[in-house]
Amino acid sequence: MGYTDNYERDTYGVIAFWLRNDYDHGRFFDREISHYEIELARANQNNIQRLGTVWQKAQSKTGDIGQLLNEAEHASREFHSLLAYTMDKSLHCEVIISTPVSLLDHMVRESEESQKVYKLIQSGAQVSPSDAVIHETVFWLRQMADHLGYIRHYSDVSNYEVNFQVTNMMQKFERLLMQATALKTMIRKPRNGMLPVLDQFRQTIIKEAKSLETFKLEVDDLIKKCAIATTSPPDLLEHIAREAHHLWRNLEDGVIT
Ligand SMILES: [Fe+2]
Ligand SMILES: [Fe+2]
Repeated sequence: MGYTDNYERDTYGVIAFWLRNDYDHGRFFDREISHYEIELARANQNNIQRLGTVWQKAQSKTGDIGQLLNEAEHASREFHSLLAYTMDKSLHCEVIISTPVSLLDHMVRESEESQKVYKLIQSGAQVSPSDAVIHETVFWLRQMADHLGYIRHYSDVSNYEVNFQVTNMMQKFERLLMQATALKTMIRKPRNGMLPVLDQFRQTIIKEAKSLETFKLEVDDLIKKCAIATTSPPDLLEHIAREAHHLWRNLEDGVIT
């Protein structure tokens, strides 16, 4: 598992995780912009370059954290604008791209989440483990269900059995998301202690996210060996496996990062 070798959860590591997330999104999007859309492609490439530079800074673990956070926030905000603008164009059928609207929205939401995390680091505010579990499950379970939807989106129609299996997994994560949103309104703030019902849910999601991570890495291996018919970017599965890993680590630690 390549990405866990240098996956560090100190402040630099967390900033690097989110910058790399945007950077990968830019690279994936780059493949799906029609040659009719030269301006969009150029604007996206500028974003990739900028995000890549700030990501390298975070990875080098040198320099002032405050300055790095500012740069990360600016770079992510600019990329967010481009994605949100393109999403609106796509809804008006005014842009030629092969990226589904929901996938643009998925990337927009992750950019927004990164900005929340940057602000949280800046403020130094403490979040209770219960609040963190509610926040992380409501945010990430939707992303996990989406990921399965995108695996199916890229997977060739001829992969009947795999596509069936992926659909079932997606529906399971949709149900878990419903449970997370139910717990969010049932367990009201202030959430000081961890209720047994929430802790049980947390354990379930840790287990599910771990097995989803394993599944994504298995598919990643097939894609990298060119052993499955798909139009997926070669490292997309590794990207979404990293996000599953991030989810269960946050749940184990009871934090938002
Ligand atoms: Fe992502
Ligand atoms: Fe994602």
